[in-house]
Amino acid sequence: MISLKARAVGLVSYQQNCRVRFGMGRNVKPLAGIHFVRLRDADAVGCEAAGMVAAQLLAKPESSIVFPTGRTPLPMYKVLRHMPHLNWRQSRLFHLDEYVNPAPRAPRVPYEAYAEYMNRELWDYITARKHYFDHYSQKPDEYERLVSADDGPDLVILGIGGNGHIAFNEPGSLPDSPARVIDLAEQTIKSNFGSVGKAGYPLQAVTLGLGTILSARKIILLATGQDKQAIVQKVFNPKTKPSKSLPASWLKQHPDVTVLTDFEVQL
Ligand code: GLP
Repeated sequence: MISLKARAVGLVSYQQNCRVRFGMGRNVKPLAGIHFVRLRDADAVGCEAAGMVAAQLLAKPESSIVFPTGRTPLPMYKVLRHMPHLNWRQSRLFHLDEYVNPAPRAPRVPYEAYAEYMNRELWDYITARKHYFDHYSQKPDEYERLVSADDGPDLVILGIGGNGHIAFNEPGSLPDSPARVIDLAEQTIKSNFGSVGKAGYPLQAVTLGLGTILSARKIILLATGQDKQAIVQKVFNPKTKPSKSLPASWLKQHPDVTVLTDFEVQL
């Protein structure tokens, strides 16, 4: 068994490698509670995020961590599944959201469930206490209770949708919103499936609410690529007040958010 000290040394040398490869990033904190770190590219964002997850696990092996899906976190998972010194055994892992299958009895659905995504990207590689949202789509409040058990969650990692959604908290979501089934916004359906109303594709999802997300001790928001720059800029513009029309803007009320980007955020 690798000692905590050896694992800590492994992590430090890993982080040094990461920073030698990708540079330190520029860390600014113009909004109370929010650190902005601009990194070189999407891989560097993934590397930095993975380092933060590893640091969380080393500091608290029994951490509860909530993971995102989508394109943006892929580089983070690639690094995480290649960190053999990380011990996940005591951790409690969750994911943010899941599609509601429109045809539950169909043998095959034409899209990838987020449970499959989590297995493919990370969970199949590690031993941990893994919690799948699709087991709770009829009772999202029970999933929420599991996430919040033992004073959790410790860490929530987020991506952001083009309309400012986080998880599937679409515009209209309030900061105390609970875990629930939600109708997907047209923009979300178009961006995730190409067009609205395709047979077999979901129109609804089950999501953790902003209430649980904002109760996390620490939040990391990942945003990479030119198509995310405008929405991140809009959310964190100091003149943008938190509001339900832009769900990610509620993050401004949280005391510990790190925003990792590969573009400049003008503040
Ligand atoms: C989906 C997910 C979100 C994710 C968003 C952005 O709608 N529910 O959790 O943040 O897509 O995905 P991507 O990273 O592919 O742009």
